[in-house]
Amino acid sequence: MARSMGFLTSTIQVRARYRRCQAAWQPHLTRTRTAILAAAKLAPGRRKALLFGAGLLHDIPLRELAASFEEVLLADIVHSVPSRLAARRFPNVRLLTLDVTGIMRELPRLRDSPGIPLPASAPDAFLKDCRLDFTVSVNLLSQLSWVPGRFLGALRPEADLAIFQRGLVLAHLEYLGQLPGHTALITDVRWCARPLAPGAKGAREWEVLQGVRLPEPDWAWDWEIAPAPEREPGVDYMAKVHGYADWKKAGGGADWTGKPEAQGG
Ligand SMILES: C[S@@+](CC[C@H](N)C(=O)[O-])C[C@H]1O[C@@H](n2cnc3c(N)ncnc32)[C@H](O)[C@@H]1O
Repeated sequence: MARSMGFLTSTIQVRARYRRCQAAWQPHLTRTRTAILAAAKLAPGRRKALLFGAGLLHDIPLRELAASFEEVLLADIVHSVPSRLAARRFPNVRLLTLDVTGIMRELPRLRDSPGIPLPASAPDAFLKDCRLDFTVSVNLLSQLSWVPGRFLGALRPEADLAIFQRGLVLAHLEYLGQLPGHTALITDVRWCARPLAPGAKGAREWEVLQGVRLPEPDWAWDWEIAPAPEREPGVDYMAKVHGYADWKKAGGGADWTGKPEAQGG
C-alpha cells in the first residue's frame, strides 16, 4: 500500500535530497534533535518513547533516547534499510510500520470508486498503552496530507479533497492530545520561495497545514529545505518550523480553525 501510494518514492527522494543538501539541513536537524531531547525531559517516566515520522532518522537523537528510555519505538509508514540497520544497534529500539492516520490502507480502493466518500481519520493506536511516557511527532504533520493528496489528485472534487486533507492534520493534532504520557510536536508550518537575484520578483510564502493554524510555538526556526538550484535555479526554498515541547498544554483549547489559504505549490 505504502509503495503504491508513493510513500517509498518520497522516502527515496528525501534521502537523495538529504545527500545533496546535507550542509544546509544541518541547523534544522540539530534544532529538531535538541527539541526532541528537551521535550523528552518533561516525560513523567522513562518506560516507552514513541516517535512518529522517524523515517530516515536524520533528525532523531537515537543514541540519547535509547539511553534514557527502556523502550524506543520508531514509527513510520515505511522504513529504509539504513534505518533498520541503525535501529539494530540498540537492543531496546524497535521499528514499527504504522500508518498514523489509520486510513491510508483504504485509499487505493477508494481511488477507483470516486462515488464513495473519503473516510475520516480517527487513529487509536497506543491510546490505551499505559507504559507510554513520551510521544513526539517529528516533521510529519505536513506530509500526512501531501502524499494522499497527490495520490487522489484530480480523481476527487477539489473541495472534498481539501476537507479530507485538513481532516488528516486535525486528527493527528487531536490524537497527540489524547495519547497517554507526555506529547510533543515538531512540524513545518509554512514554506517560502526567495529568488536570489537582487530586485528579482516572485518571492512568495504559503502555509502547508491545510489552513490549520497552530498556536504560538516554544521554538521556531527556518529549514533551508531546498537551496537553489535544488528545486529551482536561482530560488531558495525555506520551510518555517515550529516546535511544541508540551503539545497537550500548547494545543489544549486552541482554535485551529484558520481558514484554508491558497497553496503556493
Ligand atoms: C519529512 S519525513 C520526517 C523526517 C524524518 N524524521 C527523517 O529523518 O527522514 C516525514 C516522514 O513521515 C512519514 N509519513 C508520512 N505519512 C505517514 C503516515 N500516514 N504514517 C506514518 N508515517 C508517515 C514518511 O514516510 C516520512 O518518513
